[in-house]
Amino acid sequence: MHDFCFKRGKLYCENISVASLAKKHGSPLYIYSHATLTKNFRQFDDALSPLDHSIHFAVKANSNLGVLRTLANAGSGFDIVSGGELQRVIAAGANPSKCVFAGVGKTEKEIELALKKGIYAFTTESEPEMVRINKIARRLKKKAPIAIRVNPNVDAKTHAKITTGTYENKFGIVFEEIEGVYKRAAKLKNLHLRGVQMHIGSQLTEAGPFEKAVRKVAPVAKRLAEKHGIEFFSLGGGVGITYESALESGDAKWWRSPKRRNLLTPAKYAAKLVPLLKPLGLRILIEPGRFIAGNAGILVTQVEHVKQTGVKNFVIVDAAMNDLARPALYDSYHEIVPLTQKSGDHLKKNQISSDVVGPICESSDYFCKNRMLAKVGEGDHLALLSAGAYGFVMASNYNTRAFPAEVLVKGSQAEVVRKRQPLRHLWASESVPKWLK
Ligand code: LLP
Repeated sequence: MHDFCFKRGKLYCENISVASLAKKHGSPLYIYSHATLTKNFRQFDDALSPLDHSIHFAVKANSNLGVLRTLANAGSGFDIVSGGELQRVIAAGANPSKCVFAGVGKTEKEIELALKKGIYAFTTESEPEMVRINKIARRLKKKAPIAIRVNPNVDAKTHAKITTGTYENKFGIVFEEIEGVYKRAAKLKNLHLRGVQMHIGSQLTEAGPFEKAVRKVAPVAKRLAEKHGIEFFSLGGGVGITYESALESGDAKWWRSPKRRNLLTPAKYAAKLVPLLKPLGLRILIEPGRFIAGNAGILVTQVEHVKQTGVKNFVIVDAAMNDLARPALYDSYHEIVPLTQKSGDHLKKNQISSDVVGPICESSDYFCKNRMLAKVGEGDHLALLSAGAYGFVMASNYNTRAFPAEVLVKGSQAEVVRKRQPLRHLWASESVPKWLK
């Protein structure tokens, strides 16, 4: 369930019309729903309630301080992958002791910071990294809590660029070697072996691969608990969302498609996994990013021009691949809807096969190709749906384009949680060498 829907032909985020936000804050504009973030978090929390569990939102999916604080208030911990993300979590007023720190290449500085801030656990992905963490912990006279990431060699059946759980990927320790690695880790005096972790990929749309991986790793987790006293098993993230027909309710019934019914939900995920996990008696962690934030955000853009070439109808908008990189990177699908629906928009005769494209000089700068969309013209606004995860966080300043603004809506309140970047900031840290002057 999420809180973007049409009411009397106008797209709303909770109780505020998206058009009014675009008018006030300009475009491109990211808009997030507090209610959706919270509800999505609760779906996991409820589904896992039969287990001792904790949820660690994957900060990489959306690291805006307003979003992080929303989730911290709901009771979330965080999955971080850099010292920067740890500092963001702290800046948002959340507790570092609820952070797990993943990633294959943590620097000495990042490890030191995380130890000083007292994170819940590092997820280590290699033996050299374990040795490095142990060395830094010894210097700081601390014991570093760690989990080791196991690569269960299970195909997540998702996009090749976001699958992580097979031996083709750089992640984790080969399944067959994991117990040997724990044995060696146990000899490192400044490590506290606290858990075991896995993450097989992102945007999984069925529970099967999770189940397969848990069946494989659960017996190992049990032995590790007996031998080394580990207390948690983290399943990683990966629960997928619907990108097609993403609008949930309201009067736009025709946006819905039967595909929705097959969607993986936290309840379906838990129904398969809880029976396998409960007998372990371990604390279960999950690290969802996309499921919590994906459908809690949209990107609003304005049409600059419509250009017809004889074979194509190009809708040229003011957002581009630098604002939302997913279509260019993964050829991913984002539903595109006008902010104001005219009656009959859904009829084929009022639609036109369109390419919605940005102004950047690259053919990959597109949001959709040959898609039947209601006809739009200069000045109209469109919303790119399901843009709350891996949207703003992957934005760049390519073409010297400023980062868009971000707004968080809660009921009838809306607040800018990131100002549009002033253009001069783009070159503020640069200089012309004096020998060129
Ligand atoms: N835990 C670990 C260790 C991860 O590497 C990731 C995502 C997550 C949790 C969260 O996964 P989620 O629940 O969001 O699926 N930029 C890509 C997605 C990259 C995901 C990377 N790792 C995209 O836009 O689709």
